[in-house]
Amino acid sequence: MVTSELGGAADFATVAASGEAGDSAAAAACTAAGAAINTAVDLCGIRLDNPVIPASGTFGYGYEFAELFDINELGTFSFKGTTAEPRFGNPTPRIAECPAGMLNSVGLQNPGAQAVKDIELPRLKQVFFKPVMANVSGFSVDDYVYTVSLLEDEAQIGWFEINISCPNVHGGGMSFGTSAAAAAEVIAAVRKVTKKPVLAKLSPNVTDVAEIARACEAAGADGISLINTLLGMRIDLKRRRPVLANTTGGLSGPAVLPVALRMVYQVSQAVRVPVVGMGGISSARDVLEMMMCGATAVEVGAANLVDPFASLKIVRALPDALAELGVNDINDIIGAALQR
Ligand SMILES: Cc1cc2nc3c(=O)[nH]c(=O)nc-3n(C[C@H](O)[C@H](O)[C@H](O)COP(=O)(O)O)c2cc1C
Repeated sequence: MVTSELGGAADFATVAASGEAGDSAAAAACTAAGAAINTAVDLCGIRLDNPVIPASGTFGYGYEFAELFDINELGTFSFKGTTAEPRFGNPTPRIAECPAGMLNSVGLQNPGAQAVKDIELPRLKQVFFKPVMANVSGFSVDDYVYTVSLLEDEAQIGWFEINISCPNVHGGGMSFGTSAAAAAEVIAAVRKVTKKPVLAKLSPNVTDVAEIARACEAAGADGISLINTLLGMRIDLKRRRPVLANTTGGLSGPAVLPVALRMVYQVSQAVRVPVVGMGGISSARDVLEMMMCGATAVEVGAANLVDPFASLKIVRALPDALAELGVNDINDIIGAALQR
């Protein structure tokens, strides 16, 4: 399980369990009105049956969750940030709990690009029959190019999500995503070695996120996804030291939803390419807020660690949430809150 690999999941169950996401009875029942409602969206030319995508780092390589439910009910999912070489990740403790959220400093633990190709993707093919989003991280431009080139021929990969925003590794990661020039350099290099849609995954730890988004679009990104986690820390009072062995970590979960909504709103107005919104989503209502800010699709992260069925419950709750608003096609709400 992903949660055990992380050394314990955060407990903000009271938040995730409230509203649609936690109500399994309501989630399981799709009303007659709900059944007629369209939840399909188009993400860079690929159809998603619904816009709900478990976020990278919170859903492993997918097949782990297939033991619990039919993961084909999801729009798709973004697999664990994959690097050119295998990575053990950061020392523990690398999870800290917070009110309405969690800090993580996992540090991109993953088996490396070759093992993803040889082991993880063949396993996934047995249980998942839709295009998957490949999340790619790196420490140099060449790293990103190597991993994308290696995975380019994998028919099941629909999109590359280029993570230029990991706050938990030294050298690379977020340093690419906090400079417009460096972000554009990575995206332009990757663009040359793949025919698949490229999404640039942006960091919230910047002053002007719209500037970085525009630079990625100009460099050839087919879409923008945001937000990655917000840099934070906690102190262990008895030890008088940071809780996390890495000192700092990335904050995510319901606490960050308002920040994520603000940034998706800004980026949606700054670029023409589709935006995938994430940060703090734990209910169908949160999904609708994010889409009204301009997101074509959404990712759900920390909520999966509190409840492995969280994304599924959100998928099932969406039609009723739309029906409550009198909306019968989810596409009608994309960008509804934007200033025109
Ligand atoms: C434990 C954990 C591991 C993560 N690993 C990755 C990763 O490998 N690649 C990546 O792009 N984002 C990673 N993220 C960030 C999430 O994909 C997402 O952007 C962020 O958590 C905000 O969404 P949330 O508030 O719903 O969790 C990770 C997040 C968590 C909580």
